[in-house]
Amino acid sequence: MRLDKFLASTGRLSRSAAGKAIRGGQVTVNGERIRTPDRHIDPETDEISLGGEVLTYRRYTYILLNKPDGYVSATEDGNDPTVLTLLPEELQRQNLFPCGRLDKHTLGLMLLTNHGPLAHRLLAPRTHVEKTYVFTLREPISPVETARLERGVRLLDGAGESYLSRPCRITMDAEGKSGTIVLTEGKYHEIKRLFEAANNKVLTLERTRFDTLTLDGLPERGQWRHLTPEEEKSLLAHLHPSQSQSE
Ligand code: URA
Repeated sequence: MRLDKFLASTGRLSRSAAGKAIRGGQVTVNGERIRTPDRHIDPETDEISLGGEVLTYRRYTYILLNKPDGYVSATEDGNDPTVLTLLPEELQRQNLFPCGRLDKHTLGLMLLTNHGPLAHRLLAPRTHVEKTYVFTLREPISPVETARLERGVRLLDGAGESYLSRPCRITMDAEGKSGTIVLTEGKYHEIKRLFEAANNKVLTLERTRFDTLTLDGLPERGQWRHLTPEEEKSLLAHLHPSQSQSE
């Protein structure tokens, strides 16, 4: 792997900033100062330091994004921009994909990664990762109706089959037209379908939490950041304890 690519993969620097740091003499490989960004290194065995600090190779990348309106949560789309286009080029080259889907007009928290087994585990029906959404409705909804939705109702999936929604938690604001919902499954248009089952309509929807992840540090739509080591650790705990970042 190229030295500048390695530095960019740690998420500390963009590829061009990595090139500058290398040319500026801030980077050593096994103790030797290297000034050529295209120098080939082995991330598994070489010790790379930036400004005297040893960098650890991270095989996988985990990005948290505040999704704006109008972007699709896919890696490619013929019509609309994808969430991947919000990331800088060096990240777009890392085979990231959205971990789960948000509808085109749904806003908020989205996890992107290239760690297939983790995404698979987080999205597996038996994992039941909690996701919190803030919504507004066309009409007020009664406590009796929200209690019915919380217990579970029969919904149509995207393929015309019906299923019983898993129990969820709904908290409504005083006037009954906006609130939060906590889901533990990720079925097609689930929140919209739930409120349609109560003859209502979701007008706006924003995801604010995915398991332990929140939009902390991402106040603006379109902003992104790498997960903190603590966030990464808590997500990886969903994998079997013997599996880890080093796999
Ligand atoms: N439920 C929906 O209806 N839409 C989303 O984007 C997410 C959950």
